[in-house]
Amino acid sequence: MPPTRWTQPTTARRADRWDLYEHSVQSVEHEVGLVDRVYRRLRGRPPRSLREDFCGTALSACQWVRHREGNTAVALDIDPGTIAQARERSHRRLTEEQRSRLTLLRRDVRSPGREGSGVDVVLAMNFSYWVFKTRPALLAYFRAVRRSLAPRGVLFLDHFGGWAATREQEERTRYHRFTYVWDQHRFNPITNGITCFIHFEFRDGTVLRRAFRYDWRVWTIPETRGLLHEAGFRRAGVLWEGTDRHGRGNGVFRPASDRPEACESFVAYLVAEK
Ligand SMILES: C[S@@+](CC[C@H](N)C(=O)[O-])C[C@H]1O[C@@H](n2cnc3c(N)ncnc32)[C@H](O)[C@@H]1O
Repeated sequence: MPPTRWTQPTTARRADRWDLYEHSVQSVEHEVGLVDRVYRRLRGRPPRSLREDFCGTALSACQWVRHREGNTAVALDIDPGTIAQARERSHRRLTEEQRSRLTLLRRDVRSPGREGSGVDVVLAMNFSYWVFKTRPALLAYFRAVRRSLAPRGVLFLDHFGGWAATREQEERTRYHRFTYVWDQHRFNPITNGITCFIHFEFRDGTVLRRAFRYDWRVWTIPETRGLLHEAGFRRAGVLWEGTDRHGRGNGVFRPASDRPEACESFVAYLVAEK
């Protein structure tokens, strides 16, 4: 669901950092399709209610309520300015009826409360849970998610890895009128702490530097699955991306085989079942 009638800006002066973020980082149609398919396969029925944790502008939650009549979504973000953005954008994106099925809350994901509980699916995308940097902190989050899910609920997380995940480097992706720069700025090999930025460069030479900043810990898949099991999830499966004939990722995620390829960088999904 791209931002409606959005013309890519040619200068940093007129740019909205969240518009740029949604355009270059998120792919919510793919995400919602994956959640729907995997949940159906596991539970034999389509999921109805979804909570988007660390929601930012709540683009995924909006896509969820548009995806199917009757779908409901709750979206949580701790930052009041960000929730205000999400609310304003939901008015542009959704009909009144669709908005009646969306609840936006300024709330810590570790305390989703009554409105954020009893959901079929919790979605935490773009590695946002890496904000929890210690085992007790991440375990407390996973426990809170498990408690808040409906009895056969499922948690979906994404994960990036490979040896490039801990390299200090900048990676550029060109769009029509701007370039997205992912800057893995500092990595601490003792703590696995990483500081990353997103910058946007424009055709006129202007730059929106440090539009977003992330202070994370780079977790590994075995550490994360271990904590999910400790939090009481019955299963924590991994969805691994297939490759095209050139050996590049093809966007199709399937349950991982016993011998996944050890590649330089990858994105995978973790699917934790209550
Ligand atoms: C990068 S955005 C994620 C946006 C979107 N969900 C995505 O997948 O791209 C991360 C958001 O997490 C929020 N956040 C960080 N810690 C949080 C917490 N403990 N509880 C709720 N939101 C939190 C920040 O305010 C920020 O808006």
